[in-house]
Amino acid sequence: MTNPELIASAEGRCEQHQADHSFRVMVLARKIFGLELTTAPEEIRQNPEIFREALDWAAVLHDREMSVSKAYDFEHGKRAAEKVDEVIGNAANSDCKAIIKFLCIFHVPDDNEIPKLPETQMWLLRVFKDADGLDRARFDNGDKLDEKKLRLEAAKKLIPAARELWGKTKQGFDNAQSAFDGVMQAAVEMGLVNRQ
Ligand SMILES: [Fe+2]
Ligand SMILES: [Fe+2]
Repeated sequence: MTNPELIASAEGRCEQHQADHSFRVMVLARKIFGLELTTAPEEIRQNPEIFREALDWAAVLHDREMSVSKAYDFEHGKRAAEKVDEVIGNAANSDCKAIIKFLCIFHVPDDNEIPKLPETQMWLLRVFKDADGLDRARFDNGDKLDEKKLRLEAAKKLIPAARELWGKTKQGFDNAQSAFDGVMQAAVEMGLVNRQ
């Protein structure tokens, strides 16, 4: 059962980064995480729940501060991280919030600009960036989904599913709850997730 506080926190200013983007990324990240878990570092395999929870929150918060200007907003991940404590409050513990902040900050730079990180962080960041990258299915321009940019085999296999999920949810939604319901209904129908 997804945390109602998490659902309510999904919002965005930028048209391409609304709650429906957040929830598609959440569904895709959960799926990639499950498919790749056997390859995960020991720390993640021992205690997957906290990492799953962090991925859910990062999906909801990572683009929330994206500006609406035409120029790419390189600072939106840092600003999202600065909002983590305020938005999440006691709905997640401090270890989980530290992972969420990390994912918000590091989802922005290109892979070749990311410093050497511990194995656990690197693995989780790949899952998250591939989920975010798969939802480039919504673009038909220079930002469009590019298989060559995906990092994990599970993500490459999910390209048709990401396109289908976008097709089923591209109509837009009035609020975060309806975006969550719409994306989850489509994901359950497609067999991407078992439950909400
Ligand atoms: Fe972003
Ligand atoms: Fe995103």
